Amino acid sequence: MRVPDANGYSHAQATRGQERVITGNRQTSWAFADAFVAEDEALRWARDRAREAGLRSVSPGTGAALGLLAASVDAKAVAEIGTGCGVSGLHLLHGMRPDGVLTTVDPEPEHQQFARQAFRICGFASNRARFIPGPALDVLPRLADAGYDLVFCDGDRLEYLDYLAESLRLLRPGGLVVFEGVFANGRTVDSGPQPTEVLRLRELLRAVRESPELIPSLLPVGDGLLCAVKR
Ligand SMILES: C[S@@+](CC[C@H](N)C(=O)[O-])C[C@H]1O[C@@H](n2cnc3c(N)ncnc32)[C@H](O)[C@@H]1O
Repeated sequence: MRVPDANGYSHAQATRGQERVITGNRQTSWAFADAFVAEDEALRWARDRAREAGLRSVSPGTGAALGLLAASVDAKAVAEIGTGCGVSGLHLLHGMRPDGVLTTVDPEPEHQQFARQAFRICGFASNRARFIPGPALDVLPRLADAGYDLVFCDGDRLEYLDYLAESLRLLRPGGLVVFEGVFANGRTVDSGPQPTEVLRLRELLRAVRESPELIPSLLPVGDGLLCAVKR
């Protein structure tokens, strides 16, 4: 039985109040972190195009993390699966070496056209990006073994496990593989029945965590950014 204190509040009520404060603070801190690095005109332009096309783009916080990860491996060659309208690509290019090349794959040429335009608005020379139209699983086998410093996966979530297998081949030792959206808006940790996409994401999380070839970390940024360094 809960005993009310001198003000008539029970211990349980006080605890619930404190939990609400902590949860509220966490959400505010989360929002603060996500907006910490400001985005420029080209990024806003690309985001607007993506919104009009009904496409998800990485959050500003996820974009900042991608730039940081690209810089941390001094990336000269990055492969991106899921160009979209170029929001993640812009962040990756910002973090890469000035002579680095982003190879970006998407089956929708219209999306890639917007990305190309966004990169131009941002002042990146056209030889900084190689746009390959097509589904990832057709294109990736044509890319060079151990030729990439970072592989960023944001295409079809049902194919993430196949992207992992391809990434292990594409990455040099010490390179990074990164998967966007692994929280699936909270469904990944929800105990209720879930669609195949979520079951596949859980398989991916297990595979990355248990792989002897990888050093993993799940960053709680945006909709969940699963990262791993290839040993
Ligand atoms: C969420 S959007 C990518 C957003 C982008 N990374 C960004 O943050 O700006 C997903 C993209 O993946 C593309 N896509 C869908 N299936 C794909 C596949 N099998 N291979 C490669 N890309 C695919 C879609 O056309 C879409 O442009």
